[in-house]
Amino acid sequence: MSDAQPIGRQHRELVSMLERLNDAVKNRESREEIYRIIDAVIASTRLHFATEEQLMIQCGYPEIESHRNMHAQMVDDALHLKGKLDYVGDEMFTEWFNHWPFSRVLAHIQYADRQVEDYIIRAGMRQ
Ligand SMILES: [Fe+2]
Ligand SMILES: [Fe+2]
Repeated sequence: MSDAQPIGRQHRELVSMLERLNDAVKNRESREEIYRIIDAVIASTRLHFATEEQLMIQCGYPEIESHRNMHAQMVDDALHLKGKLDYVGDEMFTEWFNHWPFSRVLAHIQYADRQVEDYIIRAGMRQ
């Protein structure tokens, strides 16, 4: 295993980054700042997905393919929406943000990843 962080801690960090992003949009902070946070979230999310997929392989998680597809879809959606944000005005920006795929990342962590974490624990692997 690499010396990457345990996934439980990565999940908590991702959740707090997403909360920070949400606040930045709500408080109408500058787009530069919002984009900076979005880029940081995407980078951390990619790193986290790689860590989690590695752990799933190591513990023989049975639904790795479908879980991996969910990860790929979330990254694609985030990059796609980020590209579109450049072309909308401030009102639309907030409106679009409410459909932001990162809320799906939160749901993913709460449900799909919970199963992975439980499986890893049952498999007797330390995260
Ligand atoms: Fe995860
Ligand atoms: Fe996941």
